Amino acid sequence: MSAEDVVTTRELADADRAWAVALFTLHFSDAVIGSRGAWFDTRLLPGFVAEHQDKLAGVLVHTPLSRGIDCEIVALVSEIQRVGAATALLSRCVTAARMAGSRRVFLTTSNDNIDALRFYQRRGWRIVAVHRDSISQARAERPSIPLVGHHGILIADELELEYFGETVGSAITPTHA
Ligand SMILES: CC(C)(COP(=O)(O)OP(=O)(O)OC[C@H]1O[C@@H](n2cnc3c(N)ncnc32)[C@H](O)[C@@H]1OP(=O)(O)O)[C@@H](O)C(=O)NCCC(=O)NCCS
Repeated sequence: MSAEDVVTTRELADADRAWAVALFTLHFSDAVIGSRGAWFDTRLLPGFVAEHQDKLAGVLVHTPLSRGIDCEIVALVSEIQRVGAATALLSRCVTAARMAGSRRVFLTTSNDNIDALRFYQRRGWRIVAVHRDSISQARAERPSIPLVGHHGILIADELELEYFGETVGSAITPTHA
C-alpha cells in the first residue's frame, strides 16, 4: 500500500458538521436518526471522520462515551467508498469506547441494508437482536422514512449488531476472493 492509499481518522470537528449532515441526510433522509424507538440528532453527537488523499472520506457518530455505559454507533457513512474509510472509523470508535470503559459497542441497521450487514459481519460484528417493526413504528412519526429500501426490500425492522472482536468475522481471513 502506498502512502497515498492510507486512510487517517480524527475526531469530528465543528467545521465538518455541514458536510456530515448532508451525507447523513442523503443516506438516512434526515439528520435526526431513529434507533430502537429513540431519536438521535446527529448534529449533537461526537464522532470521527476519515480522510483519504486530503479529502473527507467518511464519518461516524456515536453516543457519548462513559465507563460502564453502552456505546451506540448511531450512523456511519462513507463518501469515498471502498478505500477503507468505514473500516478505519469502526476501529477508531471501538478503540475509543474500550479506552473509555464502555460496556459494549453496538449499532442497528435496517433489514434491507444487506451490504451493511455483510460489511459489519465480516468485521467481527454479530447480530444480537431483531427489533421487529421498529422502523414501521418510527415511520408513523416521520413519514419521510422510505417504505422500500435497498434491493426493493420493505423496510420494517432494525437488526442490532454488537462488536465481538475481529476473530469472529472473516475479514482477516477471507473465505472468498
Ligand atoms: C457500508 C459502508 C459504510 C462501507 O463503507 P466503506 O468506506 O466503503 O467501507 P470500507 O472501504 O472500509 O470497506 C468496504 C469494502 O472495500 C474494500 N476495501 C477497503 N479498502 C480497499 C482498498 N484500498 N482497495 C480496494 N478495496 C478496498 C474492503 O475490503 C471492503 O470489502 P469487504 O467487505 O468485502 O471486505 C458504505 O457502503 C456506506 O456508506 N453505505 C451507506 C450508508 C450505510 O448503509 N451505513 C451503514 C448503516 S449505519
